[in-house]
Amino acid sequence: MISFVGAGPGAPDLITLRGAQRLAAADVVIWAASLVPEGLLQHCRRDAIRHDSKTMTLEAVCAVYATHPDSAIVRLHSGDPTLYSAIGEQIAWCRQHGRDHEIVPGVSSMNATAALAGCELTIPGVAQSVVLTRLASGTRASMPDRESVQAYAATGATMAVFLSAGHVDDLAARLLESGSAYSADTPVVAGHRVSWPDEQLLRTTVGAMAADVYAAGFEATTLFLIGPALAGATDQRSHVYAPSYTTRFRPAIDDHPTVTSVAAHG
Ligand SMILES: C[S@@+](CC[C@H](N)C(=O)[O-])C[C@H]1O[C@@H](n2cnc3c(N)ncnc32)[C@H](O)[C@@H]1O
Repeated sequence: MISFVGAGPGAPDLITLRGAQRLAAADVVIWAASLVPEGLLQHCRRDAIRHDSKTMTLEAVCAVYATHPDSAIVRLHSGDPTLYSAIGEQIAWCRQHGRDHEIVPGVSSMNATAALAGCELTIPGVAQSVVLTRLASGTRASMPDRESVQAYAATGATMAVFLSAGHVDDLAARLLESGSAYSADTPVVAGHRVSWPDEQLLRTTVGAMAADVYAAGFEATTLFLIGPALAGATDQRSHVYAPSYTTRFRPAIDDHPTVTSVAAHG
């Protein structure tokens, strides 16, 4: 079995229980030292064969798979393996070669950055959609023309931008192009090596992000969250927890204390 396991953002206790179990049972582990801190390998057996994928090609990775046809293999990817992890081409190889495989999900850096910032990405009346994207840069050919940061900026949705810290001035300019729903004051959170021992969080704005990110020295391993939701909750509450709203599990309550008076009563 080849298990594509999400390591989570970096802290060894942010991998899932299933991911840790797969690592503990693995005969062979391929992991990217540039993206996954070595601490994650504490879940592995001491005698597991380890390969750092940092300098490997897809061919080299698949050659390891081919060399161990009957082993338990873990390919450890950062965050959640279904996001920017190039597992599609590895799964295609598994299918071509009749190899059993599975995906074990992980906590994405998007979730970890939102948690560190203490914010909800979907706030009623402000943003109910999250766009996960990246800037077209070094690997421009991967980016379909119809998917551009400026097109998504027009929606005003919360945006999670991966793989783009090296071009933050370009990113900031695109976020403010004509038609954008964002303004120079729109909040931005930049998480750098979130959940690593040296994690950093920067709160800035679209207008100031380029200068602030350069000043902070964030390069690789930085995740941007952008949008009005990052400013926090407004007075508008969710429907589902409003006393006046009927759900499948609870009738509306006509005569009820407000949240403020509940709080006032302790
Ligand atoms: C190859 S992509 C992998 C994304 C990963 N699959 C995920 O779900 O987070 C690497 C990019 O993810 C983001 N990233 C991954 N781990 C991070 C972390 N601990 N802190 C901040 N950003 C991170 C950065 O944008 C980085 O450039």
